[in-house]
Amino acid sequence: MLKHNLVKEIIITEEQIQKRVTELAKEIETYYQNIEKPLILIGILRGCLPFFADVMMKLNIECTTEFMYVESYLGQTSPTIEPRIKFDIFADIKDRDVLIVEDIIDSGKTLIKLVEHLTQKQPKSIKILTLLDKKAKRIVDLEADWFGFEAPDHFLVGYGLDYQEILRNLPYIGIADLEKIKALKNKS
Ligand code: IMP
Ligand code: MG
Repeated sequence: MLKHNLVKEIIITEEQIQKRVTELAKEIETYYQNIEKPLILIGILRGCLPFFADVMMKLNIECTTEFMYVESYLGQTSPTIEPRIKFDIFADIKDRDVLIVEDIIDSGKTLIKLVEHLTQKQPKSIKILTLLDKKAKRIVDLEADWFGFEAPDHFLVGYGLDYQEILRNLPYIGIADLEKIKALKNKS
């Protein structure tokens, strides 16, 4: 696989991601097989996009799709502001089973905020699925119900994850070469 020149190292390949997505979809459809109404998948934009689509396409149960957009990074590599909900779901989730689909959990502050917000809408259940989990970075008491891979404490890009909105479209997950990115920026 060709490594992008702004990526230091590929840590999870396309094949590994697809294999794990298949396993996660199986576990999730088994868990929800007896629910009465379709499962509501809530994707957290924009990083969730490829993971959300891949999981959804493999889920053999009825589901509907909703999205939210939360801002916390403002283009930096660590949270710069308290998470703010910029875009909310449209559906009424009262008494429904809800699954939040996220790209990565770092401090956990974004998801804590989202869970609090969604709980006020009185769903029957809220669970969390994340592709990556930086468990060592957690500063709030929050665990994912399902996660794809435990992630190291590096700034990661690809398969939805961005650095200042670029590199989301890489098919693998890699460690961003921040020195190279900064050097390029200083030149321009
Ligand atoms: P948290 O609120 O600290 O858990 O941050 C979660 C959000 O930060 C995720 O939804 C991502 O959008 C972003 N994030 C955290 N770590 C990374 C990373 O390594 N690369 C890209 N985005 C990240
Ligand atoms: Mg995100």
